[in-house]
Amino acid sequence: MTGKGLQAPRGTFDVLPEQAAQRERLLQAAREIFGLAGYRLIITPAFEDTALFERGVGKSTDIVRKEMFTFKDKGERSLTLRPEGTASVCRAYIEHGMHKLPQPVKLFYTGPFFRHERPQAGRYRQFNQIGAEAIGSDSPLVDVEVISLLSDLIEELGVPGVELRLGSLGSLDARATYLDELKSHLRSRDQELSEDVRARIEINPLRAFDSDHEGTRAVMADAPHLLDFLSEEDAEHFEQVKSYLGTASVPFTIDPTLVRGLDYYTRTIFSFVCDRLGAQSEIGGGGRYDGLIEQLGGPATPAIGWAAGIERILLALDEEVTSAGMDLFVVVPDPELITKAVALVSELRHHGLAVEMDLAGRSVKGQFKQADRVNAAHTLILEPGGTASLRNMETGDQRTVDPKAVANLIRS
Ligand code: HAM
Repeated sequence: MTGKGLQAPRGTFDVLPEQAAQRERLLQAAREIFGLAGYRLIITPAFEDTALFERGVGKSTDIVRKEMFTFKDKGERSLTLRPEGTASVCRAYIEHGMHKLPQPVKLFYTGPFFRHERPQAGRYRQFNQIGAEAIGSDSPLVDVEVISLLSDLIEELGVPGVELRLGSLGSLDARATYLDELKSHLRSRDQELSEDVRARIEINPLRAFDSDHEGTRAVMADAPHLLDFLSEEDAEHFEQVKSYLGTASVPFTIDPTLVRGLDYYTRTIFSFVCDRLGAQSEIGGGGRYDGLIEQLGGPATPAIGWAAGIERILLALDEEVTSAGMDLFVVVPDPELITKAVALVSELRHHGLAVEMDLAGRSVKGQFKQADRVNAAHTLILEPGGTASLRNMETGDQRTVDPKAVANLIRS
């Protein structure tokens, strides 16, 4: 920390170069997994019309009620920094007529998201997600494909102690009967509930399952479960998801109390939790949102997806990944050779070698030190006659070479 007032805002952070290698490994692994399953990258804006999230995420959610970074632009339009990606992807699906493409349309995304939450380990105001959405099919095969993507990523990265919890919220119509039951259960014991849960009995009773308030938890221990109220069709869909997950060798546990913080979910919901993380134990999660596209003004279109918190995955991994060093450091013992060095460095980079030279007027000794710091596998010491010495920094072997042959020599 230097200088007053010159710090990143509360709940945000910098990713310094020494921390970036781990992220790059994660993103590379994810891109590979998405590519193998036919998911393609989509990039949407970091801010959207506020109405998109109000309609998409839901007015009764914590996100819309308390956590959005909303501002007016110069034309007095209300804009919001995106708190999540699904609403934006659906907006893009509708706006670009993607329902005309072969279905389901399979997309992935990564980037920063913004929620005004109380910062703590694993919870930030600007964080990064990686996510996938498959839009346009209600087949349980899609549920299994989408869930497998995150399961594969977690396995590929070697994230320890992760469990997949699975539930179903049923379709919207079928849920109504259950919600009536749940509301009357909550009303019958409303004195034991937290203020927040009591205030939301009518608008969002499911959220009571997520409360860590002791009284509320006691009430919820006896609450009816949605899984016992599923319609025949929803129950059959859920059975097939479970069965195909078995076929795909994705282990899971059924959690009849599982709920999620966004209003758009229908049928399958899931959550990957990690026992190495504290209170913020969810690495990633998602579910079906069969009504969302229609609710946003598009044609009735079933869909499913998930998002995972990149910082949470990295916290759970807690590993050091060192970045690759340089192939070569060009040492310039005499200022007269600088022009030659500049030309050579440029040429070697065009050949695909990672090459640096001194940019700070260092002595020869200082240049060798710098070569060590950048973890160079070789140094090339230029000589006045046009030749040069190539030194292998690991073995110390040194030989005279023609600088033009260096690219091939290093490769071999
Ligand atoms: P979400 O559960 O709100 O879902 O967020 C997904 C993941 O983002 C969480 O599991 C967590 O790892 C990470 N995350 C959320 N908030 C924070 C935060 N403040 N700081 C750090 N990490 C955070 C969604 O966003 C849905 N759009 C997922 C989805 C996609 N559902 C269907 N498709």
